[in-house]
Amino acid sequence: MNEPSEKPRLLIADDEAANIGALVSALRDYAQLTVARNGTEALERGNACNPDLYLLDIKMPGIDGYEVCRRIRADTKQKTVPVIFITSLDAEQDESLGFEVGANDYITKPFSPAIVRARVKTQIELKRHRDHLEALAEARARQLVHSERLATLGTLAAGVAHEINNPLTCISAYSELLGAMQQQIASEHRAVLEEKLDAGDPVLNFIDNCGKYAATIFDSCDRVARIVSSMQTYSKREKDNPQPTALADCVDKALQLCSHTVKYGIDTQVDIPSDLPELIVQPQQIEQVLINLINNGSHAIQEINEEGVIKIQARLDGDKVILTVHDSGPGIPPEKLDTIWEAFYTSKGDKGTGLGLSISRGIIEEHKGTISVENPAEGGARFTITLPTQSHSE
Ligand SMILES: Nc1ncnc2c1ncn2[C@@H]1O[C@H](COP(=O)(O)OP(=O)(O)OP(=O)(O)O)[C@@H](O)[C@H]1O
Ligand SMILES: [Mg+2]
Repeated sequence: MNEPSEKPRLLIADDEAANIGALVSALRDYAQLTVARNGTEALERGNACNPDLYLLDIKMPGIDGYEVCRRIRADTKQKTVPVIFITSLDAEQDESLGFEVGANDYITKPFSPAIVRARVKTQIELKRHRDHLEALAEARARQLVHSERLATLGTLAAGVAHEINNPLTCISAYSELLGAMQQQIASEHRAVLEEKLDAGDPVLNFIDNCGKYAATIFDSCDRVARIVSSMQTYSKREKDNPQPTALADCVDKALQLCSHTVKYGIDTQVDIPSDLPELIVQPQQIEQVLINLINNGSHAIQEINEEGVIKIQARLDGDKVILTVHDSGPGIPPEKLDTIWEAFYTSKGDKGTGLGLSISRGIIEEHKGTISVENPAEGGARFTITLPTQSHSE
């Protein structure tokens, strides 16, 4: 349905010009009108303009009003759009057939313009409320699925992180040792062995390749270690205490911690008013969110350019602080705007864990705030966080 501030869209289908004229003059101030002269036209135009309500005459040449209504109800896109029949037939069986095929209301001719307007408005209001409730229910269901996933992830995280860490340290340390041994053998013994062995001898191959393999194992361990550390951050979250915190300090610390990942050529611009009230938050968690967003912005910029800007701005809005992180990268593909929040979704292959945004959203929601993203007209991706000035995470 279109925005409540816009006029609703109505489709009127009637084969009699006089009826159409009467309906148009009754409704033109209230709604945007599309007119059809028969059932086929009603279906075609309805498909094209997605009306908020159909006003259908029953008796029309070709496809009659009942059939139009049946087809609307069978169309997944339009099946909940209200249909009002307008007809001179007032026999009871016609009314009951009308309701059977899915009509919402019935107006008999001759009608008074006031009644037509009142009935149409009632159906439009009902539809608005229904759409609103459906949207709320859908958002709530999505939120529940998300919180459940995060809760499961949190429970798993502590255990998995602990179990993985010991063997991981061992693999990592031995791969490093192996690499060092390979270097030593290659520099001190390879020349001697080369004289004694054929060029393609497996021993020489082993000496040449073992270092690369050891380095690959070491890098992979590093990636696993990063995932484990993200998981630990997640599971340790509730242990920090909320405390009065200046957002500007969190931003400073996050930028310091990102200095090795935010490459030369990327300008970070911070604009936080000095009189912004302190927030009752877990500072390290908010820093963690900022680090994730700044790193993501920096990666995004590097995808398309050597240079770019990450703007971090904050302002007070009533009892909320609004913090935005806006990068000049390529933005987020529209079809991925929901997916990016999912745990383990990454477009960075081995270089990303896909946990950054999922963890960030969890942190902000625990602080009773919201986090969202958009691709603004001026380009890039802009993440917006709202945090209450009074409340704190419990
Ligand atoms: N500022 C951004 N611009 C464009 N795409 C983004 C931006 N931020 C996030 N994304 C997309 O969302 C995905 C998920 O981000 P998230 O931070 O959760 O994981 P990641 O960055 O891939 O991995 P990690 O956080 O472990 O480095 C990214 O892989 C990227 O595709
Ligand atoms: Mg990230």
